[in-house]
Amino acid sequence: MWADSAETSAEPGCAEEMALDIPEHVPSECVWDGDFEGFLGELDEPYRAAARLHDGPEIIWATNALRGNPAWIFTRHDVISEGYADYSRFSNLRGKAIGAVMDPGWLFLPLEADPPEHHEYRQILQPFFTPSAIARRGAEVQAQSDRLISTFFDRGSCEFVSEYAAIMPNAIFVSVMGMPPQMLAQFLAWEEQAIHGETDEDCLAARGAIMDYLSQFIAEQRRNPTSEIMQGILSGRIKDRPLSDAEIIGTCNLLFLAGLDTVFSSMGWIMRHLAMDHALQDRLRSNPKDIPAAVNEFTRAFGVSSPTRVVAKDMVYRGVPMKRGEDILLPTFLAGRDPRAWPNPHVIDIERKSRHITFGIGPHVCLGIHLAKRELQVMIESFLARMGNIRIADGDSFQFHTHGGIIGVDKLQLVWDRP
Ligand code: HEM
Repeated sequence: MWADSAETSAEPGCAEEMALDIPEHVPSECVWDGDFEGFLGELDEPYRAAARLHDGPEIIWATNALRGNPAWIFTRHDVISEGYADYSRFSNLRGKAIGAVMDPGWLFLPLEADPPEHHEYRQILQPFFTPSAIARRGAEVQAQSDRLISTFFDRGSCEFVSEYAAIMPNAIFVSVMGMPPQMLAQFLAWEEQAIHGETDEDCLAARGAIMDYLSQFIAEQRRNPTSEIMQGILSGRIKDRPLSDAEIIGTCNLLFLAGLDTVFSSMGWIMRHLAMDHALQDRLRSNPKDIPAAVNEFTRAFGVSSPTRVVAKDMVYRGVPMKRGEDILLPTFLAGRDPRAWPNPHVIDIERKSRHITFGIGPHVCLGIHLAKRELQVMIESFLARMGNIRIADGDSFQFHTHGGIIGVDKLQLVWDRP
């Protein structure tokens, strides 16, 4: 069944030619000859499209996994979890697919470091992302949300993605970093092109522009720091030495790219579900204390990212021969919908209390998890408190994207009743 699914997205007539590119050690039963990102876009929503892979092997070799590059894809919750956590076999050092859109001189820290160095880089950022540090930002997150809603509330409708989801996490990021708010529109444009650019060259150009901006921003921050986090990064030390300029820029670069598209995309899927699930809207409106449980369940069901690893050494893993340096995709949207881990995985049930891995697991578990959850919680609270009967506008053509390693909603026209 899973092989049939792959056939629907493989280019007709090119299977034989592509088969020539399959490394000899890859067992034929693992080969999935298709375009993974295209496959995710085949049905009317990517979660059900992706879930077709749950009928196949737990590890597949996709001939086109990410931007035309082949990679292993782990397809089930337990093997994906192991992929995240077992850094002795699965390394976070940069692989070929990511290398195509990153200059070798650009660092991406602490994500692209393995333990024990990883721990030292992460320690520098940790104090700014603890639950208490994020709780102190609660009023600011609420104020940003209120400000955005006030721009469209009286209209009784909004295009949720461009008027709220895209702006909200960016505005918080800019404030946390102490960056000038007038840069917001430019950041949005760079970020969109860096992650979802049509070609590798487009992505590289946007990432280069971000690096240039960060380099100039950091020079200014050295003279006049405007945020606690920048002070922490600039004074950060690895063992007995200060961070180099490349490490400082690489740390800011990761913060820039890790926490924007992920929150923005999650918001789109969650709001789309809420707009269609009026019973849940009513329940959460009457019982706002259930909203944190809803955020947990939503994030299980609406994983958006597909982080990567590289095979750390030649090995046979779960019976599959793998070679050092090969790319691996660990899609959180496959882990969160695996029926072996979650009964009725496509059903949103806020009673589940699941320990899911949408924010990763192991040493690289998302550093921004408390901030992300706070932003999602404030979004749900703010919309439900102020708007009745939120729904998708009649005739709205819901649009989404599946390319660039993050699945997200492009357009979601909402309407509501005003109390
Ligand atoms: C719903 C929103 C988010 C999701 C789904 C998400 C998901 C993830 C995942 C799956 C990882 C693990 C990557 C890996 O193991 O390779 C990760 C790491 C990370 N995330 Fe998030 N993230 C979100 C929001 C944020 C936010 C708001 C920030 C804050 C700026 C952030 C900062 C980071 C950082 C710095 C790492 C790397 C941690 C390390 O390498 O030790 N994330 N995230």
